Amino acid sequence: QAGVFTYDPGFTSTASCDSTITFIDGDKGELLHRGYPIDQLAEKSHYLEVCYLLLYGALPTAQELENFENMVTRHTMIHEQMHNFFRGFRRDAHPMATMVGVVGAMSAFYHDSTDPSDARQREIASHRLIAKMPTIAAMAYKYSIGQPFVYPRNDLDYASNFLHMCFAVPAEEYVVDPILSRAMDRIFTLHADHEQNASTSTVRLASSSGANPFACIAAGIACLWGPAHGGANQACLEMLKEIGSVDRIPEFIARAKDKNDPFRLMGFGHRVYKNFDPRAKVMKQSADEVLDLLGVEDNPVLQVAKELEAAALADPYFAEKKLFPNVDFYSGIILEAMGFPTSMFTPIFAVSRTVGWISQWKEQLGDPQMKIGRPRQLYLGDTARDYTDIENR
Ligand code: SDX
Repeated sequence: QAGVFTYDPGFTSTASCDSTITFIDGDKGELLHRGYPIDQLAEKSHYLEVCYLLLYGALPTAQELENFENMVTRHTMIHEQMHNFFRGFRRDAHPMATMVGVVGAMSAFYHDSTDPSDARQREIASHRLIAKMPTIAAMAYKYSIGQPFVYPRNDLDYASNFLHMCFAVPAEEYVVDPILSRAMDRIFTLHADHEQNASTSTVRLASSSGANPFACIAAGIACLWGPAHGGANQACLEMLKEIGSVDRIPEFIARAKDKNDPFRLMGFGHRVYKNFDPRAKVMKQSADEVLDLLGVEDNPVLQVAKELEAAALADPYFAEKKLFPNVDFYSGIILEAMGFPTSMFTPIFAVSRTVGWISQWKEQLGDPQMKIGRPRQLYLGDTARDYTDIENR
């Protein structure tokens, strides 16, 4: 029945969301963006073209793509006044904390487009955020390592620009390796949108009250941060480092199976995919390419990852529970190999998912029937009772 779903055994609630953007079939391991399979987009397209597809519902003509890419390229800088904003954080602040704060404050610097009548202004403000997110994430990283901010460059593509802003230093030229840039673009493409996941639902709920796009995206960033969601790629690498060597893998596999142990294999399992995450298949191919390029097969963390994947996939328990490596298992491996600290894994996820959040935010605001979200509850508390004075308690 349209708009109704069951998320607890026997308990149903009305979904507030119909959408035409992304379709997932968890049993088939199918993910479509506006009807196009994710493996075809990952192979034949690139992130900014997928952004256009998500935002406008169709693949762009050559001219439309050129115009869109020019818009993004020319809006990658942030207001110079915002540089001071970063300096209010401690150096060891998690970059996600910085991103929540900086993005949430952007309505103080840019048109906050809450006025529904100026849809064009609203659209421009939200699309420019796609251009600025890599700059904000890179600045959060540079600030955390005490290096100077690196300005975006208009001669670099989206992924190369991000890598350059993260890894370049004034003292020497940094040339972006095209294989790393392709792998970075593929990570952006594979994380762009994913139907009504927790952070997208957060953005939809926030935007249903009429909050400005920057505040809504900041809410999505906050939700994505959690280790059960976007924070899983960071949690996965930290788990691999805790395992430390391949001979400790059986110990952690046993813990993941122990119902009395809250430990879960980070980077495994999914709320919807019950066979395999189609993004993980493509991401695994990218991981192999990057590891070969960087010659890091002997990196102990990455060796543990490979052995853990093989052990889990061979274990009947995980097959029975339908626990397969998800997109975050492999993205973490690639980002580790690229030299990012684990604290930057989820900010990179947030950069990518911004277009998904904005596409869904626009779709919801474009619905003339839209009402403020108001999830209902199943009340299990006390029935009505009279107040008891403190001397009688
Ligand atoms: C993302 O929603 C999205 O689309 C999210 C996302 C996106 O693009 O937006 O795809 C991104 O968040 C991917 C997921 C990243 N999270 C992780 O990798 C964290 C580790 N995974 C788990 O925490 C877990 O798998 C979830 C949260 C992802 C899903 O958990 P559920 O909904 O509880 O899974 P389930 O109910 O299908 O679990 C079935 C069984 C349960 O055991 P029983 O109660 O049946 O005995 O499998 C067990 C779970 O306890 N289980 C795991 C496990 N995941 C589920 N056991 C060990 N390790 C795991 N990772």
